[in-house]
Amino acid sequence: MLTFNTFWLKTKIVNPTESNNFAPNFNQDNHIIMIDIFEKIKHNRGPLGEHAKNAHGYFTFPKLYGEISNKMVFNGKERLVWSLNNYLGLANHPEVRKADADAAAEFGLAAPMGARMMSGNTDYHEKLEKDLAAFVQKKDAILVNFGYQAMVSAIDALVDRHDVIVYDSESHACILDGVRLHMGKRFVFPHNNIDNLEKQLQRATNLVKDNEGGILVITEGVFGMSGDQGKLKEIAALKQKYNFRLLVDDAHGFGTLGETGAGAGEEQGVQDDIDVYFGTFAKSMASIGAFLAGDTDVIEYLRYNMRSQIFAKSLPLPLVLGAQKRLELLKTKPELKEKLWTIVNALQNGLKDAGFEIGNTQSCVTPVYLNGSIPEATNLILDLRENYNIFCSMVVYPVVPKGIILLRLIPTAVHTMEDVKYTIDTFSTIHDDLKAGKYQSDKIPEFSLVS
Ligand SMILES: Cc1ncc(COP(=O)(O)O)c(C=O)c1O
Repeated sequence: MLTFNTFWLKTKIVNPTESNNFAPNFNQDNHIIMIDIFEKIKHNRGPLGEHAKNAHGYFTFPKLYGEISNKMVFNGKERLVWSLNNYLGLANHPEVRKADADAAAEFGLAAPMGARMMSGNTDYHEKLEKDLAAFVQKKDAILVNFGYQAMVSAIDALVDRHDVIVYDSESHACILDGVRLHMGKRFVFPHNNIDNLEKQLQRATNLVKDNEGGILVITEGVFGMSGDQGKLKEIAALKQKYNFRLLVDDAHGFGTLGETGAGAGEEQGVQDDIDVYFGTFAKSMASIGAFLAGDTDVIEYLRYNMRSQIFAKSLPLPLVLGAQKRLELLKTKPELKEKLWTIVNALQNGLKDAGFEIGNTQSCVTPVYLNGSIPEATNLILDLRENYNIFCSMVVYPVVPKGIILLRLIPTAVHTMEDVKYTIDTFSTIHDDLKAGKYQSDKIPEFSLVS
């Protein structure tokens, strides 16, 4: 079998100045080690990419057709979908669809042209920022074109090489990638382990006290796989003992948690202790775009220092006006959040009553943990989709420990109590089948919708 190392093409070139376009690497014998990167990636497809041939279109890159709702068409048939972060059901809300269409008709996707700083600023952008800030109980906010970029770029802008980042081990990729850009020290604490966080804060404090550095703690409001909330209250309490600033990625909490929907900080009563709050439009707002909110001077600093916004085109007006409408509905239609939580509670309580392990979720994210191998997981998902018409996401090793199958359900305000009952009944059946060995197999089934 080909491994990563066998693909490093090592060529001895006696005269290193001769004919090549690469900046050469030399080994200790003064030989160039040449790597053809395209040859390498042809054979090393990456941990997910290596499954593409068998899984593409079905397990990976599936296509859901039809209006975004609880029922959509997958692989030619209508399925009950539990995979979309359309928490409040806004994706297809008539007022939202109208606002999106009206703004697109009036402005098109081009406007405004250029980066905000150069020529792409509008009153609409500034109004949305003001309203988002007020909604999450902050003084000011900055719009960003999408959430991943917002977190990477905000982390990059907030710290320099004298500063220390302390972050949760289960942080989303956008946090990890922001941390990767950091030129100074970074300390990780085991997920939600506050004792260990305190140890990291002690280490960080010792390190920064003599070199004019500061400390940035980064965590999430809701962890998207397990659904548990970051321990914001406990982290905020540590501010009494340690000098640090807190950045919270509240992608899943914004619009779904807290009395007014201001997120996990509001839910835990510590919104004021979050120094920089991050929310995305990609989940409860069912759109694209994101924002960071905080004190006026911090946001103004980000406005003038976040490279991803300074050197990139401004968010198009239809997205800005669409977000403005969605925000209005978040404020004026609390019944959407109430309906969401009716479904969440029915699903989570029903699953628990039926004997399922759903971990420690404290949010809408509903994980169902089963025991089984990866081939069993794939056979089970095939059965669930093809014979029971339920479409949900599956997560296996290495994201979860070996032998665990995580079925991840995202309830929304457009699901019904019938959907909940049908799903719990079906899950009970497939769980029995799993325990009886029905899905056992030596290998992962090959199932690609690409011919
Ligand atoms: C916790 C978390 N942070 C950030 C993001 C990125 O947001 P966006 O989709 O707006 O790029 C996501 C989305 O998957 C997320 O789950």
